[in-house]
Amino acid sequence: MDIKVKDETLLALLRSERRAAFEPASQSRGRAPHRWYDGVPDYLVDVYNWAYVDPTWAGWLDRRMVVRLLLFGNDARLMRLYLDAIRPGMKVWQVAHVYGDLVQRVAARVGPGGEFHLTDITPIQIEHGRNKLADFPWAKVTRADAATYDSGTDYDLICSFFLLHEVPDEIKRQIVDHLLECLPPGGTALFVDYHRPAWWQPVRWILKGVNAWLEPFADALWRHEIRDYASHPERFAWRQRTFFGGTYQAVWVERSGLCAPSAASG
Ligand SMILES: C[S@@+](CC[C@H](N)C(=O)[O-])C[C@H]1O[C@@H](n2cnc3c(N)ncnc32)[C@H](O)[C@@H]1O
Repeated sequence: MDIKVKDETLLALLRSERRAAFEPASQSRGRAPHRWYDGVPDYLVDVYNWAYVDPTWAGWLDRRMVVRLLLFGNDARLMRLYLDAIRPGMKVWQVAHVYGDLVQRVAARVGPGGEFHLTDITPIQIEHGRNKLADFPWAKVTRADAATYDSGTDYDLICSFFLLHEVPDEIKRQIVDHLLECLPPGGTALFVDYHRPAWWQPVRWILKGVNAWLEPFADALWRHEIRDYASHPERFAWRQRTFFGGTYQAVWVERSGLCAPSAASG
């Protein structure tokens, strides 16, 4: 049998197993108290209920070790990219919560002379964010959609850390456009996310299975660059680095004329 046909059959099987393994949105919404589900977009409830919406699972998953495992041990260097872009006193917006201690580390780095705004769209993630940031009075946690949040602040840094691969393509477009729209002259948008692994990268095959089973919106980042989601990419300067044999990427964006675009990989 043709290997490609076998490959596609296996991926289709994984997708159908996934549908059977996780409850459809209607069932979970029906059973769970509404306060965890009100206003949560369908794509999150349908695909990521267990990971980000249901408080039982979210409570268990919110650990540094989970992020380390998910990122095959690359968490430290990917987070370092983000932390290195922050200088004390900056105004920083992180558009979605991340499990583990990243948000406390960002808040500590921003320091009392700056501002740290964390947004997320699900109630339980907001609760976790508020608990983690209670000792940082310069940090503000707001329930909001990354595609529409507008605090009226001129941010020095706006960071999307592994959000894009978890949203449908149309929402990717809205988020990228909105973050770029919010970018003041001199500010930087930083996207850290998945990318297309090189053919020789062994985790490519693990991730193919994971994407088919659990992450239906992630595959798109293997086929499109983040700048492809911007309506007016030419108005910005883009710099990209890839990591771990192409598996991850960091993309820095500034308004055109303010940073020289270049690309590198590692
Ligand atoms: C940043 S992503 C994934 C991060 C990473 N996998 C981790 O370890 O947490 C997960 C977060 O994105 C949030 N999210 C999804 N869609 C969103 C949106 N449109 N606006 C803001 N937050 C969103 C989810 O509620 C969840 O807390």
